[in-house]
Amino acid sequence: MAIAYHSGYGHTAELARAVAAGATEAGADVSMVNLDTMSEADWDTLDGADAIVFGSPTYMGNVSAGFQAFAEQTGRRCIEGTWRDKVAAGFTNSGAKSGDKLNALVSLAVFAAQHHMHWVNLGLPPGWNSSAGSEHDLNRLGFWLGAGAQTDVDANPDQVHPADVQTCRHLGRRVALVTRQLNMGRAVSPAGSGPAASSAPAR
Ligand SMILES: Cc1cc2nc3c(=O)[nH]c(=O)nc-3n(C[C@H](O)[C@H](O)[C@H](O)COP(=O)(O)O)c2cc1C
Repeated sequence: MAIAYHSGYGHTAELARAVAAGATEAGADVSMVNLDTMSEADWDTLDGADAIVFGSPTYMGNVSAGFQAFAEQTGRRCIEGTWRDKVAAGFTNSGAKSGDKLNALVSLAVFAAQHHMHWVNLGLPPGWNSSAGSEHDLNRLGFWLGAGAQTDVDANPDQVHPADVQTCRHLGRRVALVTRQLNMGRAVSPAGSGPAASSAPAR
């Protein structure tokens, strides 16, 4: 499993480490890919992974330019289906409690869909949504599509909210589990899901 993340100021990187910790706990072999320092070996890591979890801060209500620059470099892989049928998931982090970060998660999911990847949602009920809830709940900001975290803009990376760290940890565990289940299924039903021959345009 690979965690492909961009982080301008270290907050999203902290969450990427939490996703990795959760996946490792669940038995996955995890590689971190910092999109700011992509090497050929990093591309090989992504191409060889069974699952890629994408992480980006929310900048201007969307993924960061650093993440988008990476996404735009994957065009050939997108056309050739290099990442087809890999598992995907995503997380983002913003300064405001909402910060329009759902839009960034949607962008990550659309990016994965363009690669024909299988998107795994967060799999947690919303936290902090009743009188019994608190900011320490898992999924405290109530996302379904992926993990959404909030870090004060003047906080150090080690001040990322513990509930958000645990939520990302959960996401890592979940993606590792789903990936293992999919791999076991493929062992008994290996047929690929490429476009059917019959979908080719008739001449
Ligand atoms: C250029 C820029 C744009 C930002 N846009 C948003 C935004 O749209 N919504 C928001 O809540 N926070 C926004 N922020 C705050 C960041 O999301 C926040 O500081 C986050 O923790 C940064 O994560 P990082 O340390 O991984 O880069 C923005 C920050 C920057 C630098």
